[in-house]
Amino acid sequence: MPVILAIESSCDETAASVCHDGKVTSNIIATQKIHEQYGGVVPELASRAHIQNIVPVVQAAIETANIKLNDVDAIAFTQSPGLIGSLLVGSQFAKSLSLALDKPLISVHHMQAHVLANLIDDPRPDFPFLCLTVSGGHTQIVLCDSPTKMKVIGETIDDAAGEAFDKSAKLLGLPYPGGPLIDKYAKQGDASRFKFPEPQVAGLDFSFSGLKTSILYFLQNAGTSLVYKEEFKATEDEKQRFINDNMDDICASIQQRIVSILLNKLKKASVQTGIKHICLAGGVSANSGLRKAFEETGMKNYWKTYIPAFEYCTDNAAMIAITGHYKYMAGQFADLSVTASARAEWNEKL
Ligand code: KG4
Ligand code: ZN
Repeated sequence: MPVILAIESSCDETAASVCHDGKVTSNIIATQKIHEQYGGVVPELASRAHIQNIVPVVQAAIETANIKLNDVDAIAFTQSPGLIGSLLVGSQFAKSLSLALDKPLISVHHMQAHVLANLIDDPRPDFPFLCLTVSGGHTQIVLCDSPTKMKVIGETIDDAAGEAFDKSAKLLGLPYPGGPLIDKYAKQGDASRFKFPEPQVAGLDFSFSGLKTSILYFLQNAGTSLVYKEEFKATEDEKQRFINDNMDDICASIQQRIVSILLNKLKKASVQTGIKHICLAGGVSANSGLRKAFEETGMKNYWKTYIPAFEYCTDNAAMIAITGHYKYMAGQFADLSVTASARAEWNEKL
């Protein structure tokens, strides 16, 4: 049964993991703190930090799993999508290791791995299942027939759910990444206080850019209207006072709208496909409002619901390792000519 060493470097976390026979035996992550002062990830700084982190992170993954490099049967790495400089560090490292150890290489699509994070621990969903993947860069509903056969049946046409949280937080003057802060303030707030519009998007696709605009106008008007009116524009002081006095309720109202946009489409996807084993994945599934509403929606609709452990929701290498395991079992290997790619069509890469 294979021992997989996996490397993830698509954004601002350098991560390595070992999985043995489908069980994760180490999961190491170095989070890059340098970006906080810039209000977002700076690609060039991310690449440099990956170069510094990758050797110690891989070494720690091997040591924690209590194996030697030569025990590894295959090396899996995130090939796409992500920041190209960051992906290149991980992919070149994996390719070099594959060449040096003479072990096969497995290229992994990051979004497939987020979905398969649901197969790391028990309880695991039955196939076919649906997965709502919500991260800083993606929002997708995926229909998963098997670990290596899945299809995106709905996705955002503009911002991702994580971006909607982060951009809303920025409008409120909160630091990056603002999602966890909105979650924190929302816990004490009244979600029914302010009403933000639900976008009308056909089918199973999502849109979040209209929400961002309505929040911008709402704050410019210091909460007097959801519609931007030129004749009433609050002064900077009035706007700031309004935000300070109402932070909890504003955050709760924004969060509730983002959650309802996500879950309404998920309900629709379940009805359309008849599938009731339903998973969450991605960094935004750490949101307490989303987790609670997901469970409640599941109870009402007789779903079986699954959410990976927190450390497998945000970017990590264990999800790359488990995907590597299933690709190994299916004989899906890459050769050394494989290259990292910032964007990749989902279906062509599985
Ligand atoms: O999956 P992830 O770790 O990285 C990407 O692949 O993008 O997701 C990061 C995103 C960020 O937008 C962050 O604000 C959001 O997940 N996030 C949250 C929470 N924790 C992380 N959003 C809302 N509530 C949270 N508790
Ligand atoms: Zn991710």
